[in-house]
Amino acid sequence: MIEKSKLFNNIYQSLITPILKKDTGIDAEYLTNISLSLLTFSSKYRHWPLVENILKNLNYEFCVVDKRLHQNLCGIDFCNPIGLAAGFDKNGNAANIWRDFGFGFAEIGTVTKYAQDGNPKPRLFRLAEEEAALNRMGFNNNGAENLVENFLKQGIDFKKNRSNNCLGINFGKSKITSLSKATEDYLTSLKLLIPYCDYAAINISSPNTEGLRKLQEPTLLKELLREIKKLKNCPPLFIKIAPDLNFKDIQDICQLIIDEKIDGIIATNTSLDRLGLEKRKIKQTGLMLSQENGGLSGKPLQHKANQIIKYIHEIDKNITLIGVGGIDSPESAWERICSGASLVQIYTGWIYKGPKLVPDILNGLIKQLNTYQLSNIGEAVGSNLKWIK
Ligand SMILES: Cc1cc2nc3c(=O)[nH]c(=O)nc-3n(C[C@H](O)[C@H](O)[C@H](O)COP(=O)(O)O)c2cc1C
Repeated sequence: MIEKSKLFNNIYQSLITPILKKDTGIDAEYLTNISLSLLTFSSKYRHWPLVENILKNLNYEFCVVDKRLHQNLCGIDFCNPIGLAAGFDKNGNAANIWRDFGFGFAEIGTVTKYAQDGNPKPRLFRLAEEEAALNRMGFNNNGAENLVENFLKQGIDFKKNRSNNCLGINFGKSKITSLSKATEDYLTSLKLLIPYCDYAAINISSPNTEGLRKLQEPTLLKELLREIKKLKNCPPLFIKIAPDLNFKDIQDICQLIIDEKIDGIIATNTSLDRLGLEKRKIKQTGLMLSQENGGLSGKPLQHKANQIIKYIHEIDKNITLIGVGGIDSPESAWERICSGASLVQIYTGWIYKGPKLVPDILNGLIKQLNTYQLSNIGEAVGSNLKWIK
């Protein structure tokens, strides 16, 4: 195989990776915002010759094309099973660019009906040694109307005009909206954005919006989902759940998903559990993780998130699962798929490992398909096949 250019990976490893080796130094949110500004510019001006050229090289370095990675799930074509998880591109500023990083799909948002600032800063912390993060962003975003404008600015029109650029949109409840009015809040954003999304993720699991997780309670969830399903041209629906639910709660949610004919589950969001890191101090605040608000993501979440996927898949193999939480290597992606996830998403691992993680995972998956002589990644889903070196 011809060795691909490593230009962008080299830039990342020499400029960004050293910053990520320490908790302190450049603030994590500030660093994200700088990267997003560059991506926003590139996505908006992708047809300028210079930008076009850069994206072509990016695409060459990070995209892995192989028919065996393709799946059609819930009527959506996914060219590969690796997606960008919600929360990185909250305002869809770089929606037109994620495919050039090799992603098979990207989840934009969380978007809320109203624009909102989120929680006071600092609200995103690196736990460098553990390759983890703690965040209490609180759905900072520019609101659903702005997201439509952003899509149009990038030339992202109705979904049939977008080839090979699969986008999900993650919907949340605005902070100022009471729980009793949550349904209307979700519906308003959805009505505006349905034309732009391949699937809608209903976020009822962020730990950073007070009361939101109460919507995981079956009676409230049923009411919400029934109203959403009535919408004209309603896209495939996924609900995103927390890793902190007990198995009985998860079982109830699965029953509801089956009864209400919801397409799938995204498991999981960040965790309120400190996952053995209760005493770990956040250097910027001097407080231990057990004393801090916010959700934990990254490597410490890996095992728990995998167990939940396994559990749901055992309950019903027909629920389409998107596995997320702590995936940071080809092995962990393969494990999640073999536990029952048809698709996986990455966030924290992608930041720590850099953009090369996507082709590394995809090439790793292809190798396993060769080893086990499988003709499509779908055959690995829920197979419990072990990673073979
Ligand atoms: C800084 C940050 C912001 C996030 N924002 C959102 C969000 O707005 N909506 C959402 O559904 N999940 C959000 N998440 C959760 C991720 O989508 C993902 O579920 C979680 O981080 C676990 O995956 P990971 O371990 O690969 O990061 C966020 C995560 C981080 C680290």
